[in-house]
Amino acid sequence: MFHKSVHAQIFQDYIHTVEFPSSPANLYDPIRYILSLSGKRIRPLLVSMGVELFDPSCVQASLPASAAIEYFHNFSLIHDDIMDKAPLRRGMETVHQKWNDSVAILSGDALLVKAYEELAKCPADKLGPLIRLFNRTALEVCEGQQYDMDFEQRDTVTQDEYINMIRLKTSVLLGCALQMGAIIGHADDTAQALLYEFGVNLGIAFQLQDDLLDVYGDPKTFGKQVGGDIIANKKTLLFIKLRALLQKADEAEFVHLLASDVEQEPKKVEKMKALYAKYDIQALAIDQKEKFTAIAYEKLRAIDVEESRKVALFALADALMIREQ
Ligand code: IPE
Ligand code: IPE
Ligand code: MG
Ligand code: MG
Ligand code: MG
Repeated sequence: MFHKSVHAQIFQDYIHTVEFPSSPANLYDPIRYILSLSGKRIRPLLVSMGVELFDPSCVQASLPASAAIEYFHNFSLIHDDIMDKAPLRRGMETVHQKWNDSVAILSGDALLVKAYEELAKCPADKLGPLIRLFNRTALEVCEGQQYDMDFEQRDTVTQDEYINMIRLKTSVLLGCALQMGAIIGHADDTAQALLYEFGVNLGIAFQLQDDLLDVYGDPKTFGKQVGGDIIANKKTLLFIKLRALLQKADEAEFVHLLASDVEQEPKKVEKMKALYAKYDIQALAIDQKEKFTAIAYEKLRAIDVEESRKVALFALADALMIREQ
């Protein structure tokens, strides 16, 4: 569904025109590799749909903004996979696994620079607001990633702290993509803010779905290591809800699982999943995902443009919430 749109094809054609040098191969091959694995390309799609909501004639002018966001996203994935010790990305080996950590750090850095190179190609009269938004967002993503890692070491994290962490590491980039589209499409400040809020709330639901897939996804379609969050003691909403509901009788098992890596406890993932099942945690996470999706829809509804123009964004939001990838 995500790959088949006209927007996806136009974006693919655009980034094919962006060339990367052939040497040093260990700097540029990893970039070519991660971009060739492509993924869902949701963020460029959001830029295009954000533009289209206000002025479809500006879609072509927004392609560098789309590329900037997608390059930034791929840069963050290369580094995230080092931090999360992830073996798989988009069904293939992660960059640090295929090459090594140093190569992954530096090729990620180069991709971040390429993101700014694209940002600089955006319409000159909109460059100020675009750069301010992009920079603020990029820093927020770093803040969210730091909280994510800090929380791995902590025993307790509140639901509010978790929601704030995923808002930063994931959601603001979706909001940013949409708002960049709105800026390029000449939307007014009120409409821009509402579309941004639509993206942020959608992004929270998107990360909740990602956390659900990390536990319950099908390894073939998900493309990442299932169980990775449990192995790393990530403080996901599933974890937080379980901890809150846990009865005395299960405490020892829970503490043992947290204190063990997979070498010490090969059934860590399975056993944690059994606890999730016992307390019906999956359903609680789905409830929260639906709550944030509903807030997102309200924001989109409040935007003052013809309802028929919003249909595609509602449909995309629906599809994202039941995605398997
Ligand atoms: C993965 O993002 C990182 C998260 C924010 C959950 P996507 O699920 O959009 O990854 P790709 O780009 O489609 O692979
Ligand atoms: C990552 O969150 C968010 C960013 C890359 C900034 P996750 O660590 O959950 O993303 P995946 O599951 O590895 O794609
Ligand atoms: Mg991570
Ligand atoms: Mg990760
Ligand atoms: Mg994840």
